[in-house]
Amino acid sequence: MEEKIGTYHHLDPATEAHVEALLTQMTLPEKIGQLYQTTPFGPFDLDDYLAKMKQAEETGTPFEYDPQLREDMPDLIRTGRVGSFLNVMSPRWINTLQRLTVEESRLHIPLLIGGDVIHGFRTVFPIPLAESCTWNPTLLEQASRVAAEEASASGIDWIFAPMVDVARDPRWGRIAEGAGEDPFLGMAMARARVRGFQATNLTSGRRIAACPKHYVGYGAAEAGRDYNTTDFSERTLRDVYLPPFKAAFDAGAGTVMSAFNEISGLPATANPFILRTILRDEWNWPGLVLSDYESVRELIPHGLATDLKDAARQSLLAGLDVEMVSEGYTRHLADLISAGEVPLALVDDAVRRVLRLKIQLGLFEHPYLDETLPERLHLREDFRALALEVAQESMVLLKNESHALSPTTLPLSPQTRVAVIGPLADNRADLLGCWALVNHPEDVETVLEGLGHYLKADALTYTLGCPIKDDDASGIPAAVAAAQAADVVLLVLGESADMSGEGHSRVHLGLPGRQQELVDAVAATGKPLVCVLMSGRPLVIPKLAGQVNALLAAWHGGIRAGRAIADILFGAVNPSGKLTASWPRAEGQIPVYYAHKNTGRPSAEAGTKQFAEAFKSVYMDTPNSPLFPFGYGLSYTTFEYGGLQIENPTLGLEDTLIVSATVSNSGDRAGAEVVQLYVRDLVGSVTRPVKELKGFQKISLQPGEAQVVRFEVPVRELGFTGRNMGYTVEPGTFKVWVGPDSTGELEGEFTVS
Ligand code: NOJ
Repeated sequence: MEEKIGTYHHLDPATEAHVEALLTQMTLPEKIGQLYQTTPFGPFDLDDYLAKMKQAEETGTPFEYDPQLREDMPDLIRTGRVGSFLNVMSPRWINTLQRLTVEESRLHIPLLIGGDVIHGFRTVFPIPLAESCTWNPTLLEQASRVAAEEASASGIDWIFAPMVDVARDPRWGRIAEGAGEDPFLGMAMARARVRGFQATNLTSGRRIAACPKHYVGYGAAEAGRDYNTTDFSERTLRDVYLPPFKAAFDAGAGTVMSAFNEISGLPATANPFILRTILRDEWNWPGLVLSDYESVRELIPHGLATDLKDAARQSLLAGLDVEMVSEGYTRHLADLISAGEVPLALVDDAVRRVLRLKIQLGLFEHPYLDETLPERLHLREDFRALALEVAQESMVLLKNESHALSPTTLPLSPQTRVAVIGPLADNRADLLGCWALVNHPEDVETVLEGLGHYLKADALTYTLGCPIKDDDASGIPAAVAAAQAADVVLLVLGESADMSGEGHSRVHLGLPGRQQELVDAVAATGKPLVCVLMSGRPLVIPKLAGQVNALLAAWHGGIRAGRAIADILFGAVNPSGKLTASWPRAEGQIPVYYAHKNTGRPSAEAGTKQFAEAFKSVYMDTPNSPLFPFGYGLSYTTFEYGGLQIENPTLGLEDTLIVSATVSNSGDRAGAEVVQLYVRDLVGSVTRPVKELKGFQKISLQPGEAQVVRFEVPVRELGFTGRNMGYTVEPGTFKVWVGPDSTGELEGEFTVS
């Protein structure tokens, strides 16, 4: 069945007539109300909230937080002083609020409910970084659709996702929320997620609008510290950070969230270059711009605005439509308009964009929710099955070497006696990852439960070893004893969910707490070691990677992670995930990403250290290359690449590059491979990256099977931002690679003339 996708980036006459009819009836305070998004609830008691959350985690019970309505809220709604809410995830509450406007306000304009649905709603999928490691946009579209199904049933009409920030710094905790380091891959994932969220035939009968974020360049936070300053050239803005937003808009996204960071000295929320010049003048995009949480007020500490009034003035003039939570618009826009500092016409335009979205979403016809739907829809069996499939495809096998008993450590045989050790083996809450706002640890299958599908109870022992991050090594001796009694040790290690995500950046990216000490002690037993490593980011683990015989990056894999891990460890599923962000050897290399520039003094080989080659762009103590490169990931079978063919090695600007290669499964298991195509523009009017991803295909091959994989890349897509800041494709020689990761494999050349 052809999926119907809603688009919110267009104008149509009937909607425009409805918008104008409403606008002419609106008073100024009602107009300003539409530009205010807030929470309906009273002062938020963080301590109380955290205590309840902790209690839920400890007892494995659902996290219930029953908030209190803000005292002034009913009147604000009745008088049209508020246009939308965020993160109200209860249909009962939403219906209550909606009734106040639909039945009791003058113009009956429904409220818009926004929410952070980052990797699933009740059916929690792997974190987005993990999801991107599937390199499977079709699957992510389906996952996003499931998220939309569940979120919509709970009353969300506006999803604050996808996060399409390109991120090249794993210290930044929000790398967990995006698709990694590459703009081309980021574009593919952005399109898929927007399509999935905006599917129109949802069970609820409602619609959802996506809100790509954070516009723009947020991932470039200096030193990986969240909310920090960014500073990059306009060329990097255009070539690296903007393309995933453009892709999301082209796929039909009609809203965007402005970022917290500054771009060239102007915070995004008050930056007319990105909000007007690019969105409106260059892209002609008519969508709605929402601020991030209080980012209007934050213009004051940024040092751009003297006070909230000034912040409101600058934001509105720059092109910001809706203000999230801070109250610059509600408090000051009326005065600013009467003083002539803000033209009413600009306010009207912003209001039009809100009304248009509400009409396009069908809220006027269907403001109310069926309060029984979540119960019937959430965690549906097919949703859970999809969460399992995504988890299986998202995990990346980083290492699988021989040990004394076997030529490869994985998959394990069910006859093996396994000592399971580590703080994430019997853990539910952390597998949900960051940004799982509908937090139900009881939905999660643990790794131990997953293993139970393959191992008899007497073939498995479990010891904690040590906690994730607390300073407690008292369990290590018991772990060593367990290891000694087993055939194979399965270490389940990594980060807790709260070590990544918003505001959770780290400087040391190794195993937290005493976990490395635990590994050292267990490694001394000489037993074969398998490590399942969970994290919200690429970690820096050269020592661990050297110690273990097999290593599986399992991320924070959502509610089905435990089962997916067991399926991979026992070979029921052949791993096929590939990294979408490089794993550094050392924190000091960061940012390390494959699409870097060559410099005037490149090292001859990526592995070079200083004194092997003097006065080259290398380190004295560590190679330039990452420990695990972008695109990398192993399988239980082997793939061979051959027969590179460039159909037309001399191309014009309007031609399409056609490259093919034969990929064969030379091992003895069926498997899936992500075949990747990279190019390099050798000489440009400005310098170009040493490699850029321009195509990928995920194929499945039976043992002995071969397939010709054919890529078609329009030459128009080989361009970049030239000297005059315009997009240009320049004639010249290009290299092309087809291979299993960003280090290449088959290499050829073509020219554009
Ligand atoms: C701040 C975050 O930066 C953003 O991603 C999120 O959507 C808003 N808060 C709303 O929760």
